Amino acid sequence: MLQTLAIVVAGFGLTLVAAALAGRWWLRRLVTRPVPAAALAGGGPGDCVGCPQTALMAAKGGGSAGKGAAAGKGATAGEAGGADGGTGEGSGGRRGPSRRAFLRGALGVSALGAVGGFGTATLAYLWPDVRGGFGAVLEVDDEEAILEEIDANDGRFEYPPGRALFVRYDPDDDPEGQYAEITDGGQARVLALYQVCVHLGCAVPWCSTSQWWECPCHGSQYNRWGEWMSGPAARGLDRFRVEVADDGTLVLDTSEIITGPSRAAQTLEQPPDGPHCT
Ligand code: FES
Repeated sequence: MLQTLAIVVAGFGLTLVAAALAGRWWLRRLVTRPVPAAALAGGGPGDCVGCPQTALMAAKGGGSAGKGAAAGKGATAGEAGGADGGTGEGSGGRRGPSRRAFLRGALGVSALGAVGGFGTATLAYLWPDVRGGFGAVLEVDDEEAILEEIDANDGRFEYPPGRALFVRYDPDDDPEGQYAEITDGGQARVLALYQVCVHLGCAVPWCSTSQWWECPCHGSQYNRWGEWMSGPAARGLDRFRVEVADDGTLVLDTSEIITGPSRAAQTLEQPPDGPHCT
C-alpha cells in the first residue's frame, strides 16, 4: 500500500514538473517570437502579411502595429492597437502571448497533467507489490499452523495478501502427480488456489454445505482442489506454486499464476457433501 502511494505521489510530482517545464518553454517561445519585419517597418494592419496581431487589430479598428516600433519602445499589439487586449510591454520586436494563445496553452498543460496523473495512478494500481503483497513471493506462516487454520475454518484458509485460498493437499489423492509441480514435488500438504473465477473474474466463495467453491455470479462450481465441476467456467481455478522452506515455513509464489486444470481433470474424487449454495 505504501509503495503504491509512493508511486502515485512520485508520478504526480514528475508530471507536475514536466507540465511546468513544458509551460515555461511554451511561454518563452511565445514571448520571444519575433514580429514580422513588415510590422516593424511601420505599416498598418493590412501591411503585415503573416503577422498574428494584424487580423486582431484590423477587427478592432486599432492603430498601426508599427506605431510602437517607430517610437523606439518596441512594437506590441497592445501599444500599437490601443486598448485592444494586448500585453503592451513589448521590447525591441518582441510581444507577449494573446489571450487565446495563453488559454490554449494552459489547456494543453492541464490536459498533460491530467493524463499524466491518471497514467501514474493506473500504473501504481497494476504494479506488483514486490515487497510483500500480491505479485511477490510470500512467506506465509509455518505449514503446520496453516493446516490448523484450514481445519479450523471448515476446510479452507483464505489468505487475502496473496489472493490465495489454501486447502489441504494429499499426494495420495493425486497418484499421477497432477499437482506435484506446484506443491514442491508433493512435499507441501497445501494447495494454493487463486480466488478469482476463471469465467468472468468474480471472487469465488466457499460453500460450507457442499464443501465446494461455488461462484455466485454465474454458478460455476469447483471441488475443493479447484477442479471444474459444472457451470460456464472453461477450466478449473488457477493456482499458485508453493514450497516448504527448511524451517517449515510455507512459501507462496504469487509472481506467476498457474493456469487451472482443464475440465477433464477430475483428480480429486469429491462429491458434494450437501446442498449447493448457487
Ligand atoms: S464469474 Fe464465476 S461463473 Fe461467471
